[in-house]
Amino acid sequence: MLDLHAHFLPGVDDGPRALADTLALLRNAATHGFQVMVATPHNKDVWLKSSLPALRALFEEVREAARQAGIPIELHLGMENHLEPDLPQRVDEGLALTLAATRSILVELPFNQYPLYADDTLFALQVRGLTPVIAHPERQADIQRRPQILRALVERGMLAQVTGESITGEFGPEAQASVRTLLKQGLVHLMASDTHAPEGRRSPQLEKAVAAAAQLIGEQRARALVEATPRAILNGQAVSFPLPER
Ligand SMILES: [Fe+2]
Repeated sequence: MLDLHAHFLPGVDDGPRALADTLALLRNAATHGFQVMVATPHNKDVWLKSSLPALRALFEEVREAARQAGIPIELHLGMENHLEPDLPQRVDEGLALTLAATRSILVELPFNQYPLYADDTLFALQVRGLTPVIAHPERQADIQRRPQILRALVERGMLAQVTGESITGEFGPEAQASVRTLLKQGLVHLMASDTHAPEGRRSPQLEKAVAAAAQLIGEQRARALVEATPRAILNGQAVSFPLPER
């Protein structure tokens, strides 16, 4: 499986605190079948508490430590970019990272409200040749009530990534109901762990979530959420889907 949304770098955001925890998380991920993982630290934590050069150095340190520990996971660097009006400018400045240096960028919407500036800002990213990948839309309150908000973004060429633990209920009944709706409506392209910890809640595992998704959309499409589609994104291939029927 390929996981395009994960917090495993130590001490940079609300993920693991120390390198030992990072290695425990990655070891656990390997036992759960993860072959590729993209580190997606929260952009603001990097900008406010660290720096891009420090982040890149930390990532290289982790990759080398994982290699020496014999952990068979290919690691890449990305970022989870909270959507604010200046995000396109931050991209221009080289401060907002895309997923593994591709043209796809992980974007997190504010949780409570779909803001007025969102459409313009997402479009400004697309004008720059980027494909926004909307992080866990099923956890966003407005999209929970009105899935057509996400549908409009998908119709404009954006992708949606749901979190495995939303499907298995760990994020509550609203997120679980929402992700089921979005899956059935064909509005989901990726599933990721959004892991933050080596064990327990938010640890790296997706098998149960893929099985639950398969109940709704079939085995083949469920597997594509964690295999073919993330692979295409990392290979820089255009990911195109038939527009979901209304
Ligand atoms: Fe995240």
